[in-house]
Amino acid sequence: MDKPKADKPKVVLGVSGGIAAYKACELLRRLTESGHDVRVVPTASALHFVGAATWSALSGNPVATEVWDDVHEVPHVRIGQHADLVVVAPATADMLAKAAHGLADDLLTNTLLTARCPVVFAPAMHTEMWEHPATQENVATLRRRGAVVIEPAVGRLTGADTGKGRLPDPAEIFEVCRGVLARGVTAPDLAGRHVVVSAGGTREPLDPVRFLGNRSSGKQGYALARTAAARGARVTLVAANTALPDPAGVDVVRVGTALQLREAVLKAAADADAVVMAAAVADFRPATYATGKIKKQDDRDPDPIVLVRNPDVLAELSAERVRPGQVVVGFAAETDDVLAHGRAKLRRKGCDLLVVNEVGESRTFGAEDNEAVVLGADGSETPVPHGPKEALADVVWDLVAARLT
Ligand code: CTP
Repeated sequence: MDKPKADKPKVVLGVSGGIAAYKACELLRRLTESGHDVRVVPTASALHFVGAATWSALSGNPVATEVWDDVHEVPHVRIGQHADLVVVAPATADMLAKAAHGLADDLLTNTLLTARCPVVFAPAMHTEMWEHPATQENVATLRRRGAVVIEPAVGRLTGADTGKGRLPDPAEIFEVCRGVLARGVTAPDLAGRHVVVSAGGTREPLDPVRFLGNRSSGKQGYALARTAAARGARVTLVAANTALPDPAGVDVVRVGTALQLREAVLKAAADADAVVMAAAVADFRPATYATGKIKKQDDRDPDPIVLVRNPDVLAELSAERVRPGQVVVGFAAETDDVLAHGRAKLRRKGCDLLVVNEVGESRTFGAEDNEAVVLGADGSETPVPHGPKEALADVVWDLVAARLT
């Protein structure tokens, strides 16, 4: 049976004035159907796209945009105070700016100022507006204060143009909301911390056109960078050969080879509280690099490729601890006997935490989801069920935060 309304988690769905407002109807439906009491607070501009009758009918609650409606109930204070979660979807550039600067000229912006619960923003706007330094600084400000700002999706925008700025899929926003409600994190627990994340896969060149590489997409490392930024950290992301958009508010350093990655990670690690090595670093590189393209010789067999070892960055970080108390996290992708290999690798590398996951032709590489066990040097084992890479990232940061003193 349906829970009484008073027992349901209270969610405020703020809707600002963008064409993606219609997609918020789907988010609203998912929230109400999964047992949340949702109060929709649209801005006046949002009502140009979807009318108050729709929001009211789908939520079963009254809808107001101004602080002057139902004044006796003091809605500009009450709605925010009583909420368990506020989610703004779509959040326009204007809404992010108002929220970052604490403006309060309508019911939604008043609600954002009075809310003491977690706040999630799902931005949607044209690429130029998203990339503008003003918007990026507003996003960084909101994240530093503990708000979760979801990265916009890349794809078709209003009209014929495409790029970054689409509202993420309502199902994805819903999952983020569920995760935030479950964790109940309101404090930016990594505020004031500097964390370094490596992501992607190194490429070891044979000649100017060929390399030895691997299949890592970098998505897990990017999810770690995004979630750390969302939890208030200053983040340096050392990205090896990724084709992903830069996460907002994150300092991205691009590298190609294992040696370049080592240099960038060690440099950033000098003042870091935690380093997470999510990159797939090549263990070996070709012993020689041909400055001209290697040509095939019809009259003889090809030369064998001679390999030399690359330095193990994770083992080096773990052994040297460039900063006292620094937490070092490794990743292990294994194809079989996953836990046994993981435990042995944790001991061998000497890191504090090792995220172990199973990979194969069709598993994990390039996927949106992941499943893992996080092994601790203290003997702990934290299984993370199949779910979005952000969810695994949040577990990693929970474990890192618990180890930071
Ligand atoms: N790693 C690293 N430097 C390397 C190789 C790996 O820092 N030269 C890091 C990776 O970023 C990852 C972890 O070590 O966090 C696991 O890497 P993996 O290659 O799986 O471990 P290996 O010790 O090489 O074990 P094996 O090849 O036997 O599986």
